[in-house]
Amino acid sequence: MFGILTRRSKNGHVATEPLERKVVIDIRGITKMYKMGDVEVHALRGVDLKIYQGEFVSIMGPSGSGKSTLMNILGALDQPTTGEFFLDDTDVSKLSEADLARVRNKKIGFVFQSFNLLKRTTALRQVELPLIYGGAPGRAKKAKAALEAVGLERRVDHLPSELSGGQQQRVAIARALVNEPSMILADEPTGNLDSRSGTEVMQIFQSLNRDQGITIVFVTHDPWIARHTNRVIMLRDGKVIADREVAEPLIAGEAERPSEADEMETMFKDAYYGGGQDEYN
Ligand SMILES: Nc1ncnc2c1ncn2[C@@H]1O[C@H](COP(=O)(O)OP(=O)(O)OP(=O)(O)O)[C@@H](O)[C@H]1O
Ligand SMILES: [Mg+2]
Repeated sequence: MFGILTRRSKNGHVATEPLERKVVIDIRGITKMYKMGDVEVHALRGVDLKIYQGEFVSIMGPSGSGKSTLMNILGALDQPTTGEFFLDDTDVSKLSEADLARVRNKKIGFVFQSFNLLKRTTALRQVELPLIYGGAPGRAKKAKAALEAVGLERRVDHLPSELSGGQQQRVAIARALVNEPSMILADEPTGNLDSRSGTEVMQIFQSLNRDQGITIVFVTHDPWIARHTNRVIMLRDGKVIADREVAEPLIAGEAERPSEADEMETMFKDAYYGGGQDEYN
């Protein structure tokens, strides 16, 4: 299922040259070390990665393998200990905190596992918030459009407690979208959702990626969800141990999740619990 590194066109021809695509993220030799008293935790141990415009990438790996650490660095929320990071050709490690915040606000939308919504705030207001910080005019109109894009135009006045988990996550996606970012980063966005809501969220991500060309990078523990993306990057112990294109990404809502995911589990088992890098590259 995975393991196709070449690009296949619709008529089955295998492209020999990689397509010309713009690199949006280029990280080189990234390490991240956390110091806890005398103990050093090496969360990332040398990661090189290029992500191209319009890609839909999932990042997988066991707990503690460095996924969230990597996402925080990709999102310019945190700086690496060593290594280089170019975001749209800008060397992010050289930016001041203020410039970094500007880049973040303009280019990147974040979605988190736990939605991170304000409890006593309506959907519309939640989505307006990033615009208030940015001081942009026409806030309500833009926020409504973003909510419409995630199918929540009839829930604008609802509080989080008046929405299902999947709807809350869609509000969070609308909030991430409202600044028209070129990239969405999501850390386990379907982790707290039942499978139906997870599918809805995947449908939204797939349509944002396909119809608007938004680059999406997200973390998931679920191989079935990962099969809906175009590329899977596997981390273990702070390193990339596999990086593959998905041969035929599933379309959210079309395929039935297999009642037992044994076949897929097997594919990921080695990466999670053992096995060498050679097998995967
Ligand atoms: N702020 C921090 N201070 C110290 N150590 C940290 C910090 N954040 C993460 N770590 C450590 O870095 C390693 C990688 O953590 P990270 O959160 O990136 O893992 P993860 O792959 O996202 O795991 P999970 O699947 O459980 O979310 C872990 O060993 C973790 O304990
Ligand atoms: Mg994590």
